[in-house]
Amino acid sequence: MTKLPRLPDYLLQIQPYVPGKPIEEVERELGIVAIKLASNENPLGPSPLAVEAIHAAATRVHLYPDGSTWYLRERLAARLNVPADHLAFGAGSCELILLASHGHLQQGDEGLTSESTFPVYAAGILSTGARLVEVPLEGDAIDLEGIAGAVTPRTRVIYLANPNNPTGSWFTAGRFDALLAQIPEEILVVLDEAYYEYADQPGYSRSIDLVREGRNVLVLRTFSKVYGLAGLRLGYGIARPEIVAALDRVRHPFNTSSVAQAAALAALDDDAHVRCSLEMNRAGLAQLSRGLAETGVSFLPSVTNFILVDVGDGKAVSDAMLRLGVVVRPMDWMGIPQSIRVTVGTAEENRKFLDALARALAALREARVGGS
Ligand SMILES: Cc1ncc(COP(=O)(O)O)c(C=O)c1O
Repeated sequence: MTKLPRLPDYLLQIQPYVPGKPIEEVERELGIVAIKLASNENPLGPSPLAVEAIHAAATRVHLYPDGSTWYLRERLAARLNVPADHLAFGAGSCELILLASHGHLQQGDEGLTSESTFPVYAAGILSTGARLVEVPLEGDAIDLEGIAGAVTPRTRVIYLANPNNPTGSWFTAGRFDALLAQIPEEILVVLDEAYYEYADQPGYSRSIDLVREGRNVLVLRTFSKVYGLAGLRLGYGIARPEIVAALDRVRHPFNTSSVAQAAALAALDDDAHVRCSLEMNRAGLAQLSRGLAETGVSFLPSVTNFILVDVGDGKAVSDAMLRLGVVVRPMDWMGIPQSIRVTVGTAEENRKFLDALARALAALREARVGGS
């Protein structure tokens, strides 16, 4: 056998991200129509205006995309009331998470985040050879005091999801200000607001003001969630221009596609689609909360488009639900083995989920009784 190329030791610590099975594969294997509530996507689908823009852009894909993301940059800058040079674009916010690490960390440094949070932060930190420091949750929420306490002279980057995936917990702008006041100002804080549009809570976020005030905060948002464009991969960052320039040093020149740029531009203007998506999510959260309470399982209140549900054994329950044609995410790999995470779907999908959950729990209970 030919010897394999040698990997740097620090890469061996990274757990490659394991995505859920494609829905088509589940349907083929089981011979049934399945629903996927596993990746926090928008059940309403993309904006019709975005679909039109995708068709129009398709005829020009022989050309490289606009590497400066000019039109989308100008449009978003006006909307967010920040200068155009305060914006960075990536193939999903995932790419920006990696670029933030590669632009600011090296071996000997430390990158800091929470346990039970979005796993790409850990992968980004470890992929630079820096040391990963993870602070346990405080109850179900990110422990901001613990994060401040874990800062050392080697800390260069901190990643925080607000709201957090998978717990759905969130912290106020005031608590984030208090964290910033406790840490050295030169540390880059990546504040991931992937679910910003859903988290419509009093006191939630003043992240862009912090950027305007010149703080070293990189705010991340995405077109994958409320805008329904997860398959096109487009996220953006808002930060002072020096931080955007650091990301540009490691970004490849055409990292967001022309089709994604065109779709995002159209989706931004489709206020009706965003309104409908948020309304459907509000109704779905209420429907799921009612149904889960009736099922007798405990779950965390959520301000996002997903709910973390304690089912006792997340893997066994999600496997049983898969056989019933409902795909949800077990949370063992995020350090919460007792739970599953379910994405808020359409009313019909939520009903199917609740039905499959009740059946899966009953079947597992019966199997336990039978086995004892
Ligand atoms: C907290 C958080 N950040 C980022 C992302 C990734 O988003 P994107 O599709 O923009 O890469 C997700 C996706 O689920 C997420 O939950």
